[in-house]
Amino acid sequence: MTEPFAAGIERLRQEALGTLESVGDTAALEAWRVHYLGKGGVVTEELKRIGGLAPAERPAAGQIVNDLKRALSEALDVARATLEAAAQEQASAREAVDVTLPGRGVDMGVAHPLSEAMAHIEAIFVGLGFAVTSGPEIEDEFHNFEALNIPAHHPARAMHDTFYLDHGRLLRTHTSTVQIRYMERHRPPFRIIAPGRVYRSDAPDPTHSPVFHQVEGLAVGPDLTMGHLKSVLKTFLQAFFDRRLALRLRPSYFPFTEPSAEVDISCLLCGGSGCRVCKNTGWIEVLGCGLVHPAVLARVGLDPEVVRGFAFGMGVERLVMLRDGIPDVRLFYENDLRFLKSIGPCA
Ligand code: FA5
Ligand code: MG
Repeated sequence: MTEPFAAGIERLRQEALGTLESVGDTAALEAWRVHYLGKGGVVTEELKRIGGLAPAERPAAGQIVNDLKRALSEALDVARATLEAAAQEQASAREAVDVTLPGRGVDMGVAHPLSEAMAHIEAIFVGLGFAVTSGPEIEDEFHNFEALNIPAHHPARAMHDTFYLDHGRLLRTHTSTVQIRYMERHRPPFRIIAPGRVYRSDAPDPTHSPVFHQVEGLAVGPDLTMGHLKSVLKTFLQAFFDRRLALRLRPSYFPFTEPSAEVDISCLLCGGSGCRVCKNTGWIEVLGCGLVHPAVLARVGLDPEVVRGFAFGMGVERLVMLRDGIPDVRLFYENDLRFLKSIGPCA
């Protein structure tokens, strides 16, 4: 009786191992396990059949079925390990990184050329002992004009193409407003700069923008002269452009300074031979300056017999255009990345 039983078990073993070979995924493997090794599975049924055998045959039959059970369990473990290894290999192939591929560039943000220039200008003046201050962009006629010796109907008002707001307010046309605001609150001696945005209804062209930046300078003390002013400006301009410069103080007129001058530097774009930026003069106006007018000092309660001051105001865009060879002021406001990347620290 043991012989046919053993032969049946052997057939079963071969059938089971045969089907196991065609199992291709974990779901099929689990179905296979349940069918052969599960609670009501084939192997359990065989174990039950042992009870129907003659008592003498039972130990040998039990041995045979237990061998079957161990063989199938081992085959199951091997098949499971093989499936898992294959799955893992697929997964790592999917997630593989080719470390030899060139990296993707990361765009680093940098300061806008104007911000960079303002910071540079501030640093130079701080090095000369100037404090940095500021004032409002929305102003009144008093601070933008009257206190600066530009009364109503003064022709200089027409030169400032002003954007007027309601209630007598306006967008400041220059940073000279901060001279007044600072002197209203501080007593000399002091030296300050006031960087900021200003507005004029100028028609846009290569050197004019309706919004632009100025840096105002003001020093007030007992014995300041044009000599101090010229020395400060020359030191500043040569530090900003990082070279020796041709400087031209051209007598000029501002209602709030006396004497007044405009400072020109040789056009660095064309080297002085004449181009669109310098309007073919070879020179470019970079700032206005002068000694603070006695009437302006008197307006803020200072005695012009006791203190004197010098003041200057420069256009930041024009300075950067010269330094970096930028042909058109409007480029600063168009946010064209090709332009922004072509100058400054990321160029
Ligand atoms: C003034 O605004 C005076 N407040 C400067 C001053 C201050 C003189 C203190 C004396 C003492 P002006 O209008 O020239 O001056 O302008 C000063 C600078 O601003 C010019 O030299 C020029 O570089 C720049 N600028 C003027 N208009 C524009 C514009 N539309 N776009 C860009 N830059 C401009
Ligand atoms: Mg002008």
